[in-house]
Amino acid sequence: MPAYPEAFRAYVVNRDGDRFERGLRSLVLADLPEGDVEIRVEWSSVNYKDGLAATADGKVARAYPLVPGIDLAGTVIRSARPALRPGAQVIAHGYDLGVSRHGGFAGMARVPAEWVVPLPPGLTLREAMAIGTAGFTAGLSVVELEDRGLEPADGPVLVTGATGGVGSTAVAILAERGYEVWAATGKDDERAWLETLGAVGFMTRDEVTAEGRPLESERWAGAVDSVGAATLPYILRTLRRGAAVAACGNASGPALVTTVFPFILRGTALLGIDSAYLAIEKRRRVWERLATDLRPRSLAERVTEVTLDTLEPALDAIRAGEARGRWVVRIGG
Ligand SMILES: NC(=O)c1ccc[n+]([C@@H]2O[C@H](COP(=O)([O-])OP(=O)(O)OC[C@H]3O[C@@H](n4cnc5c(N)ncnc54)[C@H](OP(=O)(O)O)[C@@H]3O)[C@@H](O)[C@H]2O)c1
Repeated sequence: MPAYPEAFRAYVVNRDGDRFERGLRSLVLADLPEGDVEIRVEWSSVNYKDGLAATADGKVARAYPLVPGIDLAGTVIRSARPALRPGAQVIAHGYDLGVSRHGGFAGMARVPAEWVVPLPPGLTLREAMAIGTAGFTAGLSVVELEDRGLEPADGPVLVTGATGGVGSTAVAILAERGYEVWAATGKDDERAWLETLGAVGFMTRDEVTAEGRPLESERWAGAVDSVGAATLPYILRTLRRGAAVAACGNASGPALVTTVFPFILRGTALLGIDSAYLAIEKRRRVWERLATDLRPRSLAERVTEVTLDTLEPALDAIRAGEARGRWVVRIGG
C-alpha cells in the first residue's frame, strides 16, 4: 500500500482583490476538491496554460486559491472504484485540472475516476509527463490529420511554433512516421536542434505571419498549428487542394482573419483540436498510441527537469514564448 501523506507541498496562485500572489504552500488532504481517486503526484509538466494561470492577467484561472498544473502522473493512493486499485500508475490531464480545481503542481491530487487514464505499458510516469498535455495535443493532431487521410507520400507538412511543447512533439512524431516536416519557428538559432528532431525544411516567423492574397500557391499537404492568429491565415491560403490543418493553439492570440476561399475553392479543412474535454475513451486510446506507434523517440532531447522549487522561471519563460521542448516537474522525492 503506497504511503499516505498528512501534508504535502503545492505551488499555489491566489488573487485577493487587486493583489496576485504565487508561491509554495503546505496543503492537507482537506484542501483538495471532491473526487473518488486520490493520487500521489510524482510528475507534472509545464504547459502554456500553466504560464497563463500563474500570471495576474492570464485569464485562465477560474477559481482562487488554485494549484495550477493541467496534467499529472502518479500513483493511486485511495480509490472508490475497484477498477483503479491503490498502487496503480495513472495519468490525468485537462478537464478542469489546474483551471478551476487544484491541478498537478502538488504532492497530492483528488480527481473524478472518469478523468483517469491508466499509464500505458511502455511509458514511465516521467515519460508520460515529458509528453504531457502539449505532446498529447500534438499526437491527437496527427491522429486527426491521418484519420482524414493524410499520408507521408502526400507531400510536406508544416508545424508552427516548432520549438514549443506542441510543436516540437509534432515535428518529432511526424518525422518518425516518415513525413517531410517543415518547421516554422521564430528561433533561428534552434534550427540545428529541430533538425535532430527530424525537420528537413524551415520557414521563418516573418514568412508565416506575412499578409497575403486570399489564395496562394498550393504548398502544404497538412499542418499542425499551435500559434493561431499570426500563422493560421497563412496556412489556410497555402494548403493544397483537399488538405487540412489541425488548429490546436493560440500562442500568438485568438483572432482569426481569413476568407472562405480555401474552403470553398480548394476543399480544405480546419480541424479543431481540443485535448481538455476529449472523451475519455478516445483519450485513453491516444495515450496507448503515444506509448507505441506515436511514441516520439526524442523525448529525452526535448525535456528540461524542474522541481516545485525551480518551477517559477519555467512558467514565466513559457508565457514569454521562450519554450524549447518541454519542462517536466518532479513533484515527489
Ligand atoms: N487545443 C488544445 O487542447 C491545446 C493543448 C495544449 C496546448 N494548446 C495551446 O497550444 C499553444 C502552444 O502550447 P505549447 O505548450 O506548445 O506552448 P509553448 O511551448 O510556449 O510553444 C509555443 C510556441 O509558439 C511560438 N510562438 C509564441 N509566440 C508567438 C507569436 N507571437 N507568433 C508566432 N509564434 C509564436 C514559439 O515557437 P517558435 O519560437 O518556435 O516559433 C513558442 O515556443 C498554446 O496556445 C496552448 O494554449 C492547446
